[in-house]
Amino acid sequence: MTTTDTQPNDQTKAEEKDRVLIFDTTLRDGEQSPGASMTLNEKIKVAALLDEMGVDIIEAGFPIASNGDFEAVSEISKIVENAVVCGLARASNKDIDRAAEAVKPAKQSRIHTFISTSPVHMKYKLQMEPEQVFDAVVASVTRARNYTDNVEWSAEDGTRTEQDFLCRCVEAAIKAGATTINIPDTVGYTMPDEYIALLNMLQERVPGADDVIFSTHCHNDLGMAVANSLAGAMAGARQIECTINGLGERAGNAALEEVVMAINTRSDILPFTTGVNPEYITRASKLVAAVAAFPVQYNKAIVGKNAFAHESGIHQDGMLKNTETYEIMTPESVGLKESSLVMGKHSGRHAFGNKLEELGYELGDNAFQDAFQRFKDLADKKKHVYDEDIIALVDDGLAKSDERIKFLSLRVIAGSEGPQEATLSLEVDGEVGTHTATGDGPVDASFNAIKALFEHSATLELYQVHAVTAGTDAQAEVSVRLEEHGKTVTGRGADTDTLVASVRAYVSALNKLLVKREKTAPATLVASQGQAG
Ligand code: KIV
Ligand code: ZN
Repeated sequence: MTTTDTQPNDQTKAEEKDRVLIFDTTLRDGEQSPGASMTLNEKIKVAALLDEMGVDIIEAGFPIASNGDFEAVSEISKIVENAVVCGLARASNKDIDRAAEAVKPAKQSRIHTFISTSPVHMKYKLQMEPEQVFDAVVASVTRARNYTDNVEWSAEDGTRTEQDFLCRCVEAAIKAGATTINIPDTVGYTMPDEYIALLNMLQERVPGADDVIFSTHCHNDLGMAVANSLAGAMAGARQIECTINGLGERAGNAALEEVVMAINTRSDILPFTTGVNPEYITRASKLVAAVAAFPVQYNKAIVGKNAFAHESGIHQDGMLKNTETYEIMTPESVGLKESSLVMGKHSGRHAFGNKLEELGYELGDNAFQDAFQRFKDLADKKKHVYDEDIIALVDDGLAKSDERIKFLSLRVIAGSEGPQEATLSLEVDGEVGTHTATGDGPVDASFNAIKALFEHSATLELYQVHAVTAGTDAQAEVSVRLEEHGKTVTGRGADTDTLVASVRAYVSALNKLLVKREKTAPATLVASQGQAG
């Protein structure tokens, strides 16, 4: 029986608060955002924070996609304490075996296998008949179950799948041993009522549906990802897949911070709980934005720079009388502290260490030493050093720990009398080189000097500058996106000198590109079923 009822079914109209599992896919779907690639160390850092903040399942990567992805999933599996670590696999033996091997060191692990079930994906992407797809569902879940009893199966493009076929596939996946059934809105096409109806229909029609956890995985192409995810929970889904800052393919995924804060703020009509401590949200957002070099839009819900800013006189007046006039949640509840004037050049190692701790950083000895030296340099140039400065400085340093190309120095001749000229020194694989180049402006001259010192064919796709704090002595934070043979990477650099920040950002992007080049998968591995959605 197919139902068009758009209300949550009886069984899922829980009176009590129900626990919704938070499945974070920042390191897999999020990392698939163009330009949002992260290094191994950065991924480990993000995973550790997700674990600490109470995420239930961390999808750490797609192990067959590249050696780098495999290594990341494997290393993350070793350090995660509480969360389940999950590896993604297409419906193929090689994928599943590789995912199983990658998550092996984890205390708790999951294999997540998927295949497209919609007519358009089966015909054009997979070039498979529905019966072949059906057989692949059974075979892939059965294979994954040989490794673990925690298996998630996803019907890619589930919301555009023919309903009878979707029911057959879900039933087969459950019979083969899947414990979580994910119904992705891969192309961000569905609407809340429609998604509720789809999940209700599956739970009513599919034998064994009561024994598994249904999951949502909603993309944001029409700006509905969070609304659809919450609708899914209203319809009985007890796992929501999401990412920090809503990172993800195209317009992104449901944003973790929005899902969690909607549940916390509207508990009157969303009777659920999550295991996430919301006070970690700001820190996680900043870390992911920094390591993925993917800036958060200013007016982004919960984590945007303006999310708790009140500009108009009327609003400010209301806020002064009672914060509840314009604030439905407090900045403190998401871990946002008032920006404070921290230190100057007289601040010592101890005070700097305390500040780092307060900002949520735990640095090893070398990283601490490096950050402290950079702080001292900054304090020499800038009278007031704010929290934002420290964050930019430390994040900039984090991205540099395992790089092959190092920035040493830059001298620039700029101004209206051209030609602009840049003399740059870099260390490449331990060898120091210096080159002077001219260009169409000082940035162009500096980038030309980089190209002369380290030849490459990557093209510059994006160059963006923003000031970390107010004032003419503010640090400039520069993002640079490079593209080479279809691979995009983004680098970030911060400095009180915009040109130095620009070179740091370019060099950081180049270093990421080198890591990507080294860790590309053999061609056979990316053929056949294409990439994940
Ligand atoms: O969007 C999607 O369908 C996916 C699947 C691999 C779960 O990312
Ligand atoms: Zn996806």
